[in-house]
Amino acid sequence: MINLSHINKYYRQGKQRFHALKDININVDEGEFVAIMGESGSGKSTLINIIGFLDEKFEGLYEFNGENVGKLSRSTFSKIRNQNVGFVFQNFKLINNQTVKDNVALPLLYAGKTMKEAEPAIEKVLAEVGLADFKDQFPKNLSGGQQQRVSIARALISRPKFLIADEPTGALDSHTSAEIIDLFKELNAAGMTVIMVTHDPKVGQATNRIIRILDGKKVSDEEVAHAL
Ligand SMILES: Nc1ncnc2c1ncn2[C@@H]1O[C@H](COP(=O)(O)OP(=O)(O)OP(=O)(O)O)[C@@H](O)[C@H]1O
Ligand SMILES: [Mg+2]
Repeated sequence: MINLSHINKYYRQGKQRFHALKDININVDEGEFVAIMGESGSGKSTLINIIGFLDEKFEGLYEFNGENVGKLSRSTFSKIRNQNVGFVFQNFKLINNQTVKDNVALPLLYAGKTMKEAEPAIEKVLAEVGLADFKDQFPKNLSGGQQQRVSIARALISRPKFLIADEPTGALDSHTSAEIIDLFKELNAAGMTVIMVTHDPKVGQATNRIIRILDGKKVSDEEVAHAL
């Protein structure tokens, strides 16, 4: 599904050029659960911004389901993003003065649906993340784990082809973190492709494959062995 060949990324810093990703080759198939690990500043977010169609300024070939992403027009590029990827962040990025239902509905409302049309999908996705009874709550009345579930529901509601999660457990205690990882595992078992950035070795071990990045280079890419 995702095929990156010889990806290089440079950031301009005044007259300098910073080489943020160096000759990255990665393939991710449908149904995979992949962790991206590496120290702070190694290029993880830079990489997932490219994978998630947030950044079109890179060198090399990115083919998504056989389509050359670098050749897309600006409008097709954002359409591809809206239709194919859901994002989950460390700090949830919820709108605090809107209810759970309104937060989760957002991607569908942006896509032109009415709230009435969106309602069945909202009910369904909230049930999937274990928040069926929370739709009229405001984020501030929810725990961190519940807020992250809301943001996962929002990421899922457009039924994307894959999820990108950048440190989704970074703001959570270890117990809540384990619950959120279990939810990602369930979603993956139901067929969702998940690409997750994490610093937490335990979280990495819960996935099926760990890609390690160091100074912009991919230094390892290995399946995780799970005890039966
Ligand atoms: N917009 C930008 N302009 C210039 N340099 C940038 C920009 N964004 C990131 N960088 C640099 O690129 C490198 C990689 O950054 P990136 O955010 O991808 O790291 P990361 O692995 O996600 O780190 P962290 O774990 O702290 O989130 C860093 O050295 C960073 O300073
Ligand atoms: Mg980052």
